[in-house]
Amino acid sequence: KKVTAFAPATVANVSCGFDILGFAVEELGDKVAVSLSDEPGVRVVKIEGDGGRLPYETDKNTCSVAVKAFIEEIGYKGGLEIELFKGLPLGSGMGSSAASSVAALEAANQLLGNPLEKKALLPFAMKAEGVACGAEHADNVAPSLLGGFVLIRSYKPLDVTKLHVPPGLYCTLVHPHLELNTADSRSVLRQQVPLKDAIIQSGNIAGLVAGLFQEDMGLISRSLQDVIAEPSRSVLIPGFDEIKKSVKSVGALGAGISGSGPTTFILSPSREVAERASEICQEVFNKIGLEVDLYVSAV
Ligand code: HSE
Repeated sequence: KKVTAFAPATVANVSCGFDILGFAVEELGDKVAVSLSDEPGVRVVKIEGDGGRLPYETDKNTCSVAVKAFIEEIGYKGGLEIELFKGLPLGSGMGSSAASSVAALEAANQLLGNPLEKKALLPFAMKAEGVACGAEHADNVAPSLLGGFVLIRSYKPLDVTKLHVPPGLYCTLVHPHLELNTADSRSVLRQQVPLKDAIIQSGNIAGLVAGLFQEDMGLISRSLQDVIAEPSRSVLIPGFDEIKKSVKSVGALGAGISGSGPTTFILSPSREVAERASEICQEVFNKIGLEVDLYVSAV
């Protein structure tokens, strides 16, 4: 018996919500097939689409780390085999490791008769993020698992809630052909935040959440500002400053780093604007002379 599941790419942080906000980008993602095996334990038996770079070892692959923690929790003593089909590029800032572990958990849970509800799978996916990047952050795994826009109100205890998304909100993803390792882009962050920055950041997080619920595109736009992570990270991302400036001129709400980069996300109030923003980004990268993949998706 075999079950296959798909889990979507995600934009984590969404500018001001470092480690606490994220949304799913439904069209892109990873697929994982899990099947029963006579040999006890969890094994990764196939990985496709990663250029031969992801590990097969059970304690290193995010799929098997997550599934192993899950079967330990439910007390399943049998064997499982995992096949991973990567749709997402590695080190892209689009939640690649999260999509793999979430798809694996969903497939394993379904295969074993859904012993846990979706939300209860989160801690196992977070454990896999810890192995992938050294921090058990949930802002990719939670939206990949639950869909839509998600807030992690608290980590201890884990308190996750879905947010309202205004109709017409679109996202453009700009993925330059570069890789940034999340552990590296976390290591450039300052460990202390001055009080004045904490005030600006809190105002923006509250403004973004209020803007989503009130369907107030202007408030969302004003709130897409990050004074904590973006200043240290944006220097690692080619074209970032120019994209941020120029997409506003076509009516986009704003732009920021997707997760830890190098992908940039742009939010727009309609598909038309999102497409126009995508064209502008292509022009910026033509000038820089770097290849880029562009995606437009509803949020
Ligand atoms: N919140 C995480 C970070 C997301 O910014 O490091 C990583 O995709």
